[in-house]
Amino acid sequence: MDTGPVTDASTAVEAPVDADIDMGGATSSRGDSDIMACLRRSTADVHERVETNLGLADPDIPAGRYRELMISFYRLHAALEPRLDDLFTEFEDPLLDWPGRRKLARLTRDLDTLGVASGALAALPVAAIPPGRDLAFGFGALYVTEGATLGGQLIARGLSTRTDLTGATSYLTPYGDQAGRRWRDLRLVMRRWVGTDRTRADAVVEAAVGTFLAFEAALY
Ligand code: HEM
Repeated sequence: MDTGPVTDASTAVEAPVDADIDMGGATSSRGDSDIMACLRRSTADVHERVETNLGLADPDIPAGRYRELMISFYRLHAALEPRLDDLFTEFEDPLLDWPGRRKLARLTRDLDTLGVASGALAALPVAAIPPGRDLAFGFGALYVTEGATLGGQLIARGLSTRTDLTGATSYLTPYGDQAGRRWRDLRLVMRRWVGTDRTRADAVVEAAVGTFLAFEAALY
């Protein structure tokens, strides 16, 4: 998937030392201990299960199933977003741009298009997610929610001829042609924050795995 050229100054800093400037980073020049490599490795199994079992990659997914999945994503983000607001609204690195990564408003709009009113959504219980409230938790959770925007592009493309889902896929492609840049920005911020601190790295990975498992549980 083409995510466009690396143009802005922030990512240009990272590009020369980073072999994985594609959208997902299948390879890394940084070695096995790099935080992004650890995250990818530690969540590979659950990612594969989610990818296989959700049914979202099926262009013929029934509209009712699609709606149920979006409701589940809403309940997950309803649990996560207030915590991420607390953690990241005043985060020191502007490259993170937390407010620009919120997803609830998009899900609310998509679901409204699918006939689910915002009042009905607000009345739903939020999904169960791991209990962390520190920055390591926040970064682990962000890894999962932001990574989902990568696969989201493929899924949205597969659904692009579905007139019954028109106007209901903005959650899947929140950044348009900026998805690759936003992912690279997040990786840069995470690598800066984790640095060489093993305790931080372990805590981020634990949070990412826990969050991914919570997504898996809520999405069935
Ligand atoms: C049918 C559903 C999905 C498909 C087809 C899919 C596909 C993909 C693809 C193609 C990538 C980037 C390419 C690569 O692996 O390098 C990716 C990355 C990723 N996806 Fe998914 N995905 C799906 C669902 C999800 C969901 C629901 C989540 C979160 C709960 C998720 C989390 C991630 C993460 C965290 C990454 C980044 C991996 C990395 O570290 O590079 N994906 N996905």
